[in-house]
Amino acid sequence: MSDALLQVSELSVHFAARRAWFRRAPPAVRAVQEVSFSVAPREIVGLVGESGSGKSTLARAILCLTAATAGSVRFDGIELLSREGRALKDVRRGMQVIFQDPYASLNPRMSAGQNIAEGLLLQEKSARPVAAAVADLLHQVGLPRAAANRYPHEFSGGQRQRIGIARALAVQPSSRHCR
Ligand SMILES: Nc1ncnc2c1ncn2[C@@H]1O[C@H](COP(=O)(O)OP(=O)(O)O)[C@@H](O)[C@H]1O
Ligand SMILES: [Mg+2]
Repeated sequence: MSDALLQVSELSVHFAARRAWFRRAPPAVRAVQEVSFSVAPREIVGLVGESGSGKSTLARAILCLTAATAGSVRFDGIELLSREGRALKDVRRGMQVIFQDPYASLNPRMSAGQNIAEGLLLQEKSARPVAAAVADLLHQVGLPRAAANRYPHEFSGGQRQRIGIARALAVQPSSRHCR
C-alpha cells in the first residue's frame, strides 16, 4: 500500500542466546519472526500478545533502537533499516515514543516543564519561547500550567503519563499528517 505512513515488511529480530560454560550454545531467541503490517496516517493500531511475545522488541526495531535481523521498515516511504547516523536522526524526528513506564522515561531531577522542554531545546528551532510552548503542551494534555514547576515524583501515575505524552508532542512528530 503506497499511502501507508508506516510499512513493516517481514521484520525479524533474533537475539543470540547466551551460552552457559557447561553447555552448547542454545538456539537464538526469535523475538520477532517475519512480521508485516502497515499503518495509515491517523490510523491507530493496537498490538496484543502475551508477555514475552515480542511486542516491545517489534516497537524498538521499528524505531531502530534494537537492530533488526531481517526485513524492512518504511516510514513515510523512507526505508529506515538501511539508514544510519544523521540520516536516521532526521527521519526519527518524525516518530515519538510514549513509554509504558513514564517514571523510567522522565528525568527525576528535572521539573515536569524541563522534561517537556528538553526536546525543544535540543531542536533549537522553536519559533515561540519555550516556556509558552510548555504551557500550551500542558494544556493539551489536561494539566494545569503550575504543573511545570513540579517534579515527576509529585504526580500520580496517570499524570506522569500525561507529561510523557506532552514530551512526545513537544517535538511535533510528523504533525503534517495530523492536520
Ligand atoms: N535484549 C534482549 N536480549 C535477549 N533477549 C531479549 C532481549 N529483549 C527481549 N528479549 C526476549 O525477546 C522476547 C520478546 O520480548 P519482548 O519484546 O520484551 O516481549 P513483550 O513486549 O511482548 O512482552 C522475550 O523472550 C525476551 O526474553
Ligand atoms: Mg513489552
